[in-house]
Amino acid sequence: MADAKWQDLGPAEAFQRSDLTEASLGRQKLAVSCKDGKLGVIAGTCNHVGGPLGKGRLDGEYVVCPWHNWKFHRSTGKGEPGFEEDCVPAYESKVEKGRLLVRTDNPSARNRKPHAPHPLARKIERLPGAIRVAGISTTNMDEANPRYSTSDALLEVALGHAKGALKCDTKLIRLSALKFRSCEGYYSKSASACTWPCSITQMDEKDELTEVYEALVHWADVVLVSTPIRWGVASGLYFKMAERLNCVQNQITIRDNVLIRRKVAAFVITGGQDNVQGVAGQMLCFFSELGFHFPQFPYIAHSRGWSAEDMERNVAHVMQSKELREGAKQLAARAVELSKNLLATAPMVEHTPRGGRKAYRLEIERSATGSNT
Ligand code: FES
Repeated sequence: MADAKWQDLGPAEAFQRSDLTEASLGRQKLAVSCKDGKLGVIAGTCNHVGGPLGKGRLDGEYVVCPWHNWKFHRSTGKGEPGFEEDCVPAYESKVEKGRLLVRTDNPSARNRKPHAPHPLARKIERLPGAIRVAGISTTNMDEANPRYSTSDALLEVALGHAKGALKCDTKLIRLSALKFRSCEGYYSKSASACTWPCSITQMDEKDELTEVYEALVHWADVVLVSTPIRWGVASGLYFKMAERLNCVQNQITIRDNVLIRRKVAAFVITGGQDNVQGVAGQMLCFFSELGFHFPQFPYIAHSRGWSAEDMERNVAHVMQSKELREGAKQLAARAVELSKNLLATAPMVEHTPRGGRKAYRLEIERSATGSNT
């Protein structure tokens, strides 16, 4: 008579054909590994944020999670050296009559070693004080040999006005001065693999985009973003930052966790050539998806147009334009005014109902993953 403690996972030979296979025990996933013909069975759900261990890879005796590369011993379930206490359940297994049997009544215990949360993960609270305005310059620049940047120049006017006449606290962040990695597509692995704080930020303490996350999510009431127009779109650095901000937007999609509340964004867009509308449209779309509010007329812009290949005159025009400087000041004033109104009248709610962008795929993944043991 069959022993109910032992469950048949299938032909052993099928599991011996590859290093690592995801198997199912009811609703539960397992990671079945094979090294030198010997099979090992551990739980298939990672301790970090639930990555599918059976879809990872084998590195020596360790199963490597496909999401953020945490490692667990393929037969004991223990974490890699130094993290042994961080372990996933391991299962006894045997091969009988060519079938892989796994014992289900006594897997070892899962143990999550507490990891200190990243400072960015702290509660979002607006500390008392003047309105805080962060300027983010996205133009690329040789920091050692800077050139005149029209978008930077107008951003600095806006920030100067916020600090002087409007009595705000201000800070300027130049993306060109920060060393930060490009988004590595954790979201493309799974919605849940794109974490807040950003997976890269948590793994790489040298990554300097933390400064932007701190400003956008925690510090600032108003964010002024400046960009040049490059071939009809915002700068490459702008998109490098925007891709890394997917972790902020993704929290809304997968957890209904809106990190950006009662904050205002506005934009400075300049270019020698055209497509102000396209650039503004993209920026408005993206920052609205993050949860920002916009003042009336939320951007100022300047371009010379498609047929004006005279960059020197473009620079001279911006340098001399009182009107653009006045526009930059008024943009800052509108954004600060809206921020004051929001802080005075909009309660800091925990939940913002928003339909239409449910992470259906995530729900499917969750139900397929089953319990977390
Ligand atoms: S390393 Fe496994 S989910 Fe992050």
